[in-house]
Amino acid sequence: MSGESNKTLDRQLGAFANVDNTDHADFIERLDEMHGLDSFKAYKLETFRLMRVAPGMAVADVGCGTGEDARGLSSFVGETGHVTGFDLSEAMIASAKSRHAEVTGLGFQQASADALGIADNSLDAIRADRVLIHVPDPSATIDEMIRVTRPGGRIVISEPDMPGFWVASDDHATTGVLVGAISKSCRHPYLPRDLWALFRDKGLKDLEITVRTITSNEIGAIAKVLDLQAVMTLATQAGLVAPATAEAWMQDVMERAQTGRFVAALSIVMMSGTKS
Ligand SMILES: C[S@@+](CC[C@H](N)C(=O)[O-])C[C@H]1O[C@@H](n2cnc3c(N)ncnc32)[C@H](O)[C@@H]1O
Repeated sequence: MSGESNKTLDRQLGAFANVDNTDHADFIERLDEMHGLDSFKAYKLETFRLMRVAPGMAVADVGCGTGEDARGLSSFVGETGHVTGFDLSEAMIASAKSRHAEVTGLGFQQASADALGIADNSLDAIRADRVLIHVPDPSATIDEMIRVTRPGGRIVISEPDMPGFWVASDDHATTGVLVGAISKSCRHPYLPRDLWALFRDKGLKDLEITVRTITSNEIGAIAKVLDLQAVMTLATQAGLVAPATAEAWMQDVMERAQTGRFVAALSIVMMSGTKS
């Protein structure tokens, strides 16, 4: 495989499983693009509400990326509380530390989601947002999140339903190939649909599942976040779509964007429960 196709693969959504082995500046830019979208901000606030965060609490964000959500949580727990952001990636932790150094009660640690390295029952609430579809063993990660949360504390996991993502287009078959390629690049694309059963089977109580569909009319943001052009190139190279069909699909979507007729939608599944 050529260096260029390797680069294309590296940029796929699934490469979030190992950011340090890729162009991490590109991944950080893509996260920043997402954090700028109002619909993303709204569902993230919803996850804080599901955590039942309050002043003085000790909480954590697993797979915190550049730490924007951990910082958001600090404003809820206040100076008497504490927030820890955990991430597997050294580059993400370095970025989070430098971006939020001045915030009191906010710390970052490099750790794998299934081995956080903190004491049992030490947190009041914990969340992971768009992380478990990438980890090797989501069930082990949920066990670890339960282990570090005190009885009565809240566990919240939010994941995008990538196989259900859609983009308005004249060519539904090619949209399906594109969505399939994006989904398959994640380790566990169907995990959001299993979260209810996983939480129930692990004995969590007070279960709540909330689904928020985020929509965008901004082709630029969607193309950047999902790396549409790169995924289409990969699908073409893999022989899943003919080059002329891929070009026609892109042209249709761009024309829709130029005439204000572009729309895309992605559902975010938020699963929450209380440790008994
Ligand atoms: C799509 S990003 C989401 C980041 C952040 N939660 C947000 O909403 O902006 C996924 C993050 O999970 C981290 N990650 C991936 N696999 C991980 C693992 N096994 N343990 C901990 N973090 C992991 C990545 O390094 C990356 O920062």
